[in-house]
Amino acid sequence: MPDELSGRRLARWTGRLAYGGDYNPEQWPEEVWHEDVRLMRAAGVDTATVGVFSWSMLEPAEGVHDFGWLDRVMDLLHQNDVKVVLATPTASPPPWFSLAHPEALPVTAAGVRLMHGSRDTYNPAAPAYRAAARRITRALAERYAAHPALAMWHVHNEYGTVSYGPVTDEAFRGWLAERYGDLDTLNRTWNTAFWSQRYGRWEEIFAPQATQYLPNPAHVLDFKRFSADLLTGCLDDQVAILREVTPDVPVTTNFMLPTWNHYDQWAFARRIDQVSIDHYLDNRGPAGETHVAFGADLARSFNAGRPWLLMEQATTLVYDYAGGRMYAKEPGRMRRNTLQYLARGATGSLFFQWRSPRVGAEFFHSAMVPHAGPDTRIFQEVTELGAELGRLAELAEPPSRGPVNDHRVAIVWQPDAWWAAETRALPSSDTGFLDAVRRAHTALWNLGVNADVVDPDGDLARYDLVLVPSMLAVSDEQAGSFDAFVRAGGHLVVWHFAGSTDEHLRVRPGGYSGAFAPTLGLRVEEHVPLAADEAVALDDGSTAGAWSELVHLAGAETVAGYGSDAHPVIPAGSPAITRHRRGAGVAHYLSTRLADDALERHLDRIRTEAGVTRAHEAAGGGLEIVRRRAGDRDYLFVLNHTSETLSPVLAGTDVLTGRELDGPVDVAAGDAVVVRENTTTN
Ligand code: GLA
Repeated sequence: MPDELSGRRLARWTGRLAYGGDYNPEQWPEEVWHEDVRLMRAAGVDTATVGVFSWSMLEPAEGVHDFGWLDRVMDLLHQNDVKVVLATPTASPPPWFSLAHPEALPVTAAGVRLMHGSRDTYNPAAPAYRAAARRITRALAERYAAHPALAMWHVHNEYGTVSYGPVTDEAFRGWLAERYGDLDTLNRTWNTAFWSQRYGRWEEIFAPQATQYLPNPAHVLDFKRFSADLLTGCLDDQVAILREVTPDVPVTTNFMLPTWNHYDQWAFARRIDQVSIDHYLDNRGPAGETHVAFGADLARSFNAGRPWLLMEQATTLVYDYAGGRMYAKEPGRMRRNTLQYLARGATGSLFFQWRSPRVGAEFFHSAMVPHAGPDTRIFQEVTELGAELGRLAELAEPPSRGPVNDHRVAIVWQPDAWWAAETRALPSSDTGFLDAVRRAHTALWNLGVNADVVDPDGDLARYDLVLVPSMLAVSDEQAGSFDAFVRAGGHLVVWHFAGSTDEHLRVRPGGYSGAFAPTLGLRVEEHVPLAADEAVALDDGSTAGAWSELVHLAGAETVAGYGSDAHPVIPAGSPAITRHRRGAGVAHYLSTRLADDALERHLDRIRTEAGVTRAHEAAGGGLEIVRRRAGDRDYLFVLNHTSETLSPVLAGTDVLTGRELDGPVDVAAGDAVVVRENTTTN
């Protein structure tokens, strides 16, 4: 939990912004290590993440340890002032483990048992895996507890493994028995009467493996919850050992953002001292900049508004063959992106990876030291960035009070909402969670409005405006807390389809979006999904698509109605966008998927009504401006993502150059300015 104790543990960490990356010396002869530390010093590197995939080197046979090489690496790094984020290597069990414990290998939904030969070949439910992971964690903790290079524990790597098969089935049954108590309750909740699925004994229930046609949605959703709880259990195993053996050393684990969704980020964050993320641009063009902002906002929010660690980004090529090729980053982009992460609360920047390997699964992935060596554009940029981070060292101080960025808007983020949206056979496949959340975040980014994400079971009251772009399954308790937020003066924006079921995916009777109906002051009679290429016009000039609805007012007012070309089910002028005063607040509803410009216009209207301001009046449209706190000081980050020089009015000290600013300041295309403002937050 990021609390006061965490603050004390992390204090050993502050002083400068962390700079470095995943370091895999075990892949190289020792003479290369000496070149490594020389180059690290030249590049201003002060942090190395070591041992992430070293299990087979550290424990070459069950119970037999070889720490000699790691001792020498730790000593060498310490002698060169490089702090070590020491990983537990549990993401990749060694080959001997698979042979000794074949039942602990992962099994796919189709029943195929996967063999070692890659990584993550384990079943998180398998007792043998859990025991082996605990043993290597304890051995490492005891060995390096007092080593002066040890700065932080890096538990595992990117938790996210899901497995089916007999071991999982047994654990799943135990989880269900605890949740439901008896089979009658389970049968009723899952409505197993549908398609003759009634269970008479626990042994009849399996993880939802491949089946003939559509599976039971409630069964699948519970399996996702169970799988995430398993991973939280794996994390708990290790954190307990590390806290016992090294109570003063902070603990982190790296979240793969935003695409991995097999774990519960909020639950993870409560267990560690600091959230770390791995973040790789999902797009080459301007969408890549919004992606950086999005990843950073997630990380900071998961970490309760405190500074967080960028554990991995790439200098250029990323190992992802989804699109069939890797793309190079243009010069200067790595720097600009890094400043974006810093603006949004990062305590430094680490990379995957320090040195590109000569061979191995990801051998053409980029690194700080590329295959071509240090005499390269990439290493040059790495060195310049290291020097620049040195000049920004004052940012390493945690805020003396409050969050590192103080935003008044939050977007609801919930793993459960994502899993619910993955349910097959929803009325439209255009109801994806991540897409909806990203679109809302991007619209705010374009408007220059900065936002957090918020757990719907957390504290909504800290915000003036809360957005719910995708949350199909909403419990009565959650509905009550959204309503209380509005009554107390909050502004809430709910997107179509949200709240149409309860937490077990049971459709709420009487009208869709039923969980929000009283809050929104309306009744949704029918969902009217649209074809992928079909658009509807609203009577305020907005264009929309993908989805429409037959909505009746029950206290709300219409802000925009459907035009006359909407689906025959929807009469012209019937409500499309609504607004409902409720208590001291206002609840807004978007019953269709607005085109980007219309979404921005309406969110701008709503945030203005909610009294939400931007960090700077010039922010938006590619000029990213974010205020960040460090100590009792405020810093304004100004990042020009456009292709022209822009000249916002700035006042304070330019931290990178030392010049005093008071008036319009030219920020060249692709450049950034970090201003120490002349105000304090006291
Ligand atoms: C992840 C992993 C790394 C590496 C990179 C490649 O983030 O943690 O080990 O595979 O991706 O981009």
